[in-house]
Amino acid sequence: MKFKAFLCICMGVFSVLAVQAQEMTEDDIKARIQPVGKVHIAGAKAETASSGPRAGSDIYAKACVACHSVGVLNAPKLQNAADWSPRLEKGFDAVWKNAINGIGAMPPKGTCGDCSDDEIKAAIEHMIEGI
Ligand code: HEC
Repeated sequence: MKFKAFLCICMGVFSVLAVQAQEMTEDDIKARIQPVGKVHIAGAKAETASSGPRAGSDIYAKACVACHSVGVLNAPKLQNAADWSPRLEKGFDAVWKNAINGIGAMPPKGTCGDCSDDEIKAAIEHMIEGI
């Protein structure tokens, strides 16, 4: 007897849920999830805007490490004075410009298309730090 009553309650709950789900049209669902999506995007944008330029070490880790850690295709290695000194002889600005425009096997901006010129500069400063 008790089990039957329990079963009845369960069935009742399920049928209410089922009806509710059916009553929601596609538009209802869109309307429900839309504000959540908007809030999320707005939050992400605010975050990007307030964070400003990324740190050189972050840019290096994201875009430059693949070649500049072990010296792929003779890329000057991270914080390796022997690799960097001859290049820096032509002046930091020239080296910076080459990184932006690309030089030899080094792709423009090291393939970091969304990096600003200043972020590239910060990444180079990170690579030559302490040499
Ligand atoms: C696909 C590999 C690759 C990636 C990724 C890469 N580089 Fe390079 N980079 C090179 C190579 C190879 C050279 C040496 C080019 C030459 O002198 O012929 C080089 C040289 C440089 C130089 C020296 C330029 C000069 O005037 O001597 C700088 C500065 C530099 N890279 C910065 C960066 C920065 C900053 C990043 C990341 C945003 C980056 N690279 C990503 C391959 C890469």
